Amino acid sequence: MKTLISAEELKKRVKELGKQISEDYEGKEFTFLLVLKGSTIFGADLFREIKSHRVELDCIRLSSYKGTKSTGSVSMDHGELARFEGRNLLVVEDIVDTGTTLSFFLKELEKVKPESVRICSLFEKKKVNQGKVKVDYLGFDIGNEFIVGYGLDYNQKYRNLPDIEIYEGEND
Ligand code: IMP
Ligand code: MG
Repeated sequence: MKTLISAEELKKRVKELGKQISEDYEGKEFTFLLVLKGSTIFGADLFREIKSHRVELDCIRLSSYKGTKSTGSVSMDHGELARFEGRNLLVVEDIVDTGTTLSFFLKELEKVKPESVRICSLFEKKKVNQGKVKVDYLGFDIGNEFIVGYGLDYNQKYRNLPDIEIYEGEND
């Protein structure tokens, strides 16, 4: 596999995002909402860059991918979305590709009337998403390659790689 973004570069960008988010939410209560599982590693690093005592951590599991293809339908543990009513939500994603996952989730969220919703994503495939989902805090715009590492998987594997690598096939 080929390295696209090194652990060092990731660290630097995560710090910058944390600084920007901390400034924007200064003095405000908000919920840092991790979208499992992809954003766990990124989220854990970013969360520690948030300089505020008014931030809560929460998570939700959404899933739409099988292998390297989007299935087009999203599964979610509906659980208690109602807990987000009246909250300022910062949704933390690993990657926005076609935008299917977040479009679905944002629609579901609207029903429970949060106070505000913003999106933070480490990656966006802008050419694929084409503005369907608006990312407020973006780490990196990437091309249409399938990437793994730093929490991102191929069929649940490779999440533990420290760098972002381009996935090129089964035989490695
Ligand atoms: P979307 O619904 O097409 O926007 O895809 C979003 C979800 O698909 C992300 O949360 C990831 O879990 C997964 N995904 C999309 N592209 C990639 C990739 O290049 N590598 C790993 N996972 C990806
Ligand atoms: Mg994901």
